[in-house]
Amino acid sequence: MNINRIKSLKGSIHIPGDKSISHRGIMLGALANGKTEINHFLQGADCLSTISCFQKLGIDIVNSKNSVLIEGKGLHGLLPSKEILDVGNSGTTTRLLSGILAGQSFITTLNGDASIQKRPMNRIITPLTQMGAKIESLNNNGCTPLKITGSPLKGIHYHSPIASAQVKSCILLAGLYADSPTSVTEPFVSRNHTELMSSSFGAEITVQNTTVTIDPDPTLEGQKIDVPGDISSAAFFIVAGLIIPNSEIIIKNVGINPTRDGILKVCKDMGANIKLENIHTSNGELIADIIVSTSSLTGTVIEGSIIPTLIDEIPIIAVLACFAKGTTVIKDAQELKVKESNRIDVMVRNLTAMGADISATDDGMIIKGGKPLHGAVINSDFDHRIAMAFSIAALNAESETEILGIECINISYPDFFTDLNNLIQK
Ligand code: S3P
Repeated sequence: MNINRIKSLKGSIHIPGDKSISHRGIMLGALANGKTEINHFLQGADCLSTISCFQKLGIDIVNSKNSVLIEGKGLHGLLPSKEILDVGNSGTTTRLLSGILAGQSFITTLNGDASIQKRPMNRIITPLTQMGAKIESLNNNGCTPLKITGSPLKGIHYHSPIASAQVKSCILLAGLYADSPTSVTEPFVSRNHTELMSSSFGAEITVQNTTVTIDPDPTLEGQKIDVPGDISSAAFFIVAGLIIPNSEIIIKNVGINPTRDGILKVCKDMGANIKLENIHTSNGELIADIIVSTSSLTGTVIEGSIIPTLIDEIPIIAVLACFAKGTTVIKDAQELKVKESNRIDVMVRNLTAMGADISATDDGMIIKGGKPLHGAVINSDFDHRIAMAFSIAALNAESETEILGIECINISYPDFFTDLNNLIQK
């Protein structure tokens, strides 16, 4: 894909459904009694992997694009899969599903693509093993393929060394099958969609500071879920609206859950013209329209407890920092190394190729903003958020940019370029 500088962006846009919430809707819908209807479900490849895994586990799911209907079979209704479950590129599918499979009375093997086969799974194998699960990394490298032998589980209190919603959610979902309450304490609060949604399905969840506890064996009842727009997808348009001259965009119906809204705080800190309107709640999730316009920005420091609330937005925040005056420092973000790609290395390599002043640190990056970007050949390393971040950078670079591996955008935002083209002023 070749991309050139544009003049401005104007108009309004509806962002596709939140990826994290879409995954959880399928999982909890499958484990609930009766029908669950999910509207504005994200039709990205990751969420389709979750649907296909649950279909193989015996759940009827009809995906009619506008909505997804799930015939839940209750907590103990899953059936053994005849095949290996294919989780594709999806870390959320792998880790959350492993928690559920640990409590079943059958054996399952799951595997995914080349990227998933490199991502660390010991972070879930360790706590699930403490609960009594039997999980084997078949290549003995702490990664997929995983063979999960469902077992009777006991409740534990796990002190997680990392703030990870996938780890927390994996343990909480296994906790549904434990013999006593299960708690997870994190160093900082990570996204809380599992907690919010499982409560709305009828689970007993208590939250105290950074500790979440779930009671075992609830009766979950099917729900109607309206998925808000994904702030992680909106982030690309927020940044585009801020860095491209003469722009003003309204981004409608975006989830602004406080465990996900770090990008809004960072933009405000940097001096962005950004406003929220029409703030309301649906299914326990906070939602708003976000209005952004071209802004004069200054660098900032991003560290500590805000990191889990913007972890997926760091690639596009790094692009934003290139257009700000002064230095932006991103710290405490070592988790970037174990995402769909090593996002510290890939951002530093590609932004350097475009002329930015950026250097990698052990736990993040330092960007000295203000140097104009020029076109380059960008290798996305088949990471969807990298491909989208550089598509936006290219819109305000001096010469043409070529992005390799652009198809990976399908993972989280199949209509990204259609939506972008609708805003571009010719
Ligand atoms: C997710 C949690 C985050 C995030 C991922 C989605 C989730 O991962 O990066 O894109 O849906 O729970 P970690 O839990 O590994 O931080």
